[in-house]
Amino acid sequence: MADEPLVLGIETSCDETGVGIVRGTTLLADAVASSVNDHARFGGVVPEIASRAHLEAMVPTIQRALDTAGVKASDLDGIAVTAGPGLAGALLVGVSAAKAYAWALDKPLYGVNHLASHICVDQLEHGRLPSPTMALLVSGGHSSLLLSEDITTDVRPLGATIDDAAGEAFDKVARVLGLGFPGGPVVDRTAREGDPKAIAFPRGLTGPKDPEYDFSFSGLKTAVARWVEAKRRAGEEVPIADVAASFQEAVTDVLTRKAVKACKDNGVDHLMIGGGVAANSRLREMAQQRCDRAGIRLRVPRPGLCTDNGAMVAALGSEMVWRDRAPSSLDLSADSSLPVTEVHVPHTDFHGQAYQALTGQQR
Ligand code: KG4
Ligand code: ZN
Repeated sequence: MADEPLVLGIETSCDETGVGIVRGTTLLADAVASSVNDHARFGGVVPEIASRAHLEAMVPTIQRALDTAGVKASDLDGIAVTAGPGLAGALLVGVSAAKAYAWALDKPLYGVNHLASHICVDQLEHGRLPSPTMALLVSGGHSSLLLSEDITTDVRPLGATIDDAAGEAFDKVARVLGLGFPGGPVVDRTAREGDPKAIAFPRGLTGPKDPEYDFSFSGLKTAVARWVEAKRRAGEEVPIADVAASFQEAVTDVLTRKAVKACKDNGVDHLMIGGGVAANSRLREMAQQRCDRAGIRLRVPRPGLCTDNGAMVAALGSEMVWRDRAPSSLDLSADSSLPVTEVHVPHTDFHGQAYQALTGQQR
């Protein structure tokens, strides 16, 4: 529909410079410039390198997105940007660019939450999210179960990891196995050749007295490292594919088991899975089987929309405009630890606050 909001979204929370353009729930462009190869030799993302790469990629990536979408910047109804959580310096590049474009074009600015964007992106594939939706958010920095009635205002955490995020565990296990960085995609590929039942790795926080919706992957990661170490010490060959498959099975078993239980306990019949780890083929397969058995409708975006991208930010920004949410002010700042409950950073009336501080009265 032509009257649906046309929004450009900018994502720079980690190592992808993402610029997406969305009209309503239709994706028009999803341009991504990644600095992932610049970090590979360090075995993880180096914040300074990521920030510099964002700076260099920002304007060309915005231009590429506009060209692909076939729209002019002046046609936009709003500019959305990831305000947090993420790497402070990296976020700052995106927020500064978004503010500059919003100011120069005289468009409303929406500082949004990266985690809510990972959920909202599914609207581009499967239409508007039903209310309520259960979301399993699994990325390099987070693993959470979130219940949302309205993705523009309300995200309620039911549980989260108490130590490592699921993606972090994939990255660390890949390092132990010498598979490189980032670990998720390569463990996923390697696991296809292995036996998921070969090694019984532990399932964290699944005992009867454990918190129902929290996760723990640190013990699993250590168990994998010890198992591999013992083999190496004994001079035996490490069955890499079996280790990868058994580890992946342990992660996906716990994630899907808890997500389905959270849906059943809360009477929610839609489960959305988002974040980089949602690209995992075994997680998608197991979630589908378990949701089918439980009568739950599963929504998972295609893998390219699960990992960080600008389309997800544009999707949430467009929903903000559609639902008439207040824009952010031009003094929006990046917040590296923005809580998941703050879906967007609304307008702050700094002048009003200053007036009140000086006079003790409301303006
Ligand atoms: O959402 P994302 O792109 O960035 C963050 O917000 O963290 O997630 C990145 C994480 C990394 O840990 C990466 O190894 C993991 O997602 N990942 C995967 C797969 N693709 C990416 N994990 C498992 N299987 C995959 N296919
Ligand atoms: Zn992410």
